Amino acid sequence: MKRCAIVILGATGDLARRKLLPGLKKLYNNKQLPSDCTLIASGRNFMTTDDFKRHAKLSSDYPIDITYHAGINGLHELLKCKGSFSRIIFFCALPPSAYVTTARQIKAEGFGKEAILIIEKPFGINAASARELNDALVKEFPEEQIFRIDHYLAKEAVRNLLTLRFANPLFSDIWNSSEIDSIQISSLETLGVESRAAYFDNSGIIRDMVQNHLFQMLSLTAMEPPENLNAETIRASKINLLRSLKVERCICGQYSGYKNEPGIRSGSTTETYAELELSINNPRFKGCPVYIRAAKGCSKSGTDIGITFRPINKGPFASKKDLPANFIIVKIQPQAGIILGLATRVPGSDEIIESTAMNLCYHDAFKHEWPDAYEKLLLDAVSGDRTLFVGAEETETAWTILDDVLDKGYSFEYPFGTTPESKLGAKWIEFSEYCTL
Ligand code: BG6
Repeated sequence: MKRCAIVILGATGDLARRKLLPGLKKLYNNKQLPSDCTLIASGRNFMTTDDFKRHAKLSSDYPIDITYHAGINGLHELLKCKGSFSRIIFFCALPPSAYVTTARQIKAEGFGKEAILIIEKPFGINAASARELNDALVKEFPEEQIFRIDHYLAKEAVRNLLTLRFANPLFSDIWNSSEIDSIQISSLETLGVESRAAYFDNSGIIRDMVQNHLFQMLSLTAMEPPENLNAETIRASKINLLRSLKVERCICGQYSGYKNEPGIRSGSTTETYAELELSINNPRFKGCPVYIRAAKGCSKSGTDIGITFRPINKGPFASKKDLPANFIIVKIQPQAGIILGLATRVPGSDEIIESTAMNLCYHDAFKHEWPDAYEKLLLDAVSGDRTLFVGAEETETAWTILDDVLDKGYSFEYPFGTTPESKLGAKWIEFSEYCTL
C-alpha cells in the first residue's frame, strides 16, 4: 500500500469518537493499514495533541501516530514535516454545508492529486441542490478524488448481492419478471429521531433512508449484470437501473408523539414512515412491482430484501392450488443471512405441501471476524478503491426519481413502537414469519 496520511476534519465530533478513531485503531492493529500511516485530527479549537487524546478518550496505547491540528491552514506544512505521502485522505466529518468551502480550503492549502475527499450524506436535498453541490466540488477536485459514503454499501450482506445473483447459476437465469413476482426492501428502526431531531425534521425518512440506502440496495438487487467487477462498470449498471425506476405510489406516516419531541417544529408534517411502490421500466423487470419502506419508531429493527417468485405454471404441480411460492430473503441486519423459501411435502402426508425455509446465517457459516461498514470504507479509501462509494451521477439520478414525492407531508399516524401494515399491498409482513436468524 502507498504511504498515506489520514486527516479527520471535524475530529472533535461524535462520528470521529464513535466510529473513525476506533475503526482506524482496529484496522491498524490488524495490520490492514500501512504501519507508517499518519493520522491528523483537525478541529476548530486550539488544543494540544494530548488534550485531544483526552477529549476523544483515546487510550494511552492508541497505536497510530496522531497529531492534533486546528483548522486546515498549515496542514500542508505539517504533513510535509512528517514525510511524503502519495495519498492523503480527508475525511470530512463535517456538516454538509461545509463541504464546498472545505474542498476549496484543502485545494488552496496546496493539496492536489494525492488528496481524497470523503463526504457523507446528505448530498443535497433534491436533484437541483445535489447537482449544485457536485458541480461546486468538481471545480476543486475531480470526481475520481471524491468518495461519497453510503455505509449500507459496505454491509456484508449488501456486498454479497452481486455474488448471490451472478456467481450462482441457480439464480442468475431466473432473475426477471417472468419468474419474480415482486421485490420488497424494508428497513425499520425501533428508535425515533433521538438527538438528531433538527436534522431529521428538515429531512424526513425519504431523504434520510430511501434516496440513498434503499435505492442502493435496490440497484444492486435489480441491475443488469456488469461485465466485470470494476467500480466504474458496477456504477454504470446501477445508474442504468436507477434511470429505469419510476415511483408509482407513495404513502407516508408519522409516529405519534413525534411533534412533541425536543427539536421538532410544532405542527411538523415530516414523515417518519414511507412506503413506495416503484416500477422498473426495462425488459428484465417490466411488470414486477418493487415495494420499499423505511421507518423509525417501529416495533422491531431490521433490514431485509425479499424476492417472491411466481407460482409454478407448468409440470405436474401446475394445477395444484395454493402451492407455496419460492422466495429469497436477504437479511441485511441485525444478522446477515439468506433465507430460501421452498415448497416441501409435509412428511407423513400425501397431499400437503408447505412453505419451508433454508437459513444461511453468516455468523454460523463464517467464523472469522470481518470489518464493520465504516472500517471497510476507510480501508477502501486508503487503497483508492471506489467500488463502495457513490458517484455524482448516481446520487443525482436517485434524487430525480424522488423529486415529486418529497415534502408532501404524511397521511396517517401510527403509535410509536408499532409497525404499520402495508398500505400498498406489499408482502413483507409474511416474510417475518421466516426470519428466525
Ligand atoms: C443513517 C440515517 O444514514 O442510517 C439514520 O441517517 C439511520 O437515520 C442510519 O438510523 C441507519 O444505519 P444502520 O447502519 O444503523 O442501519
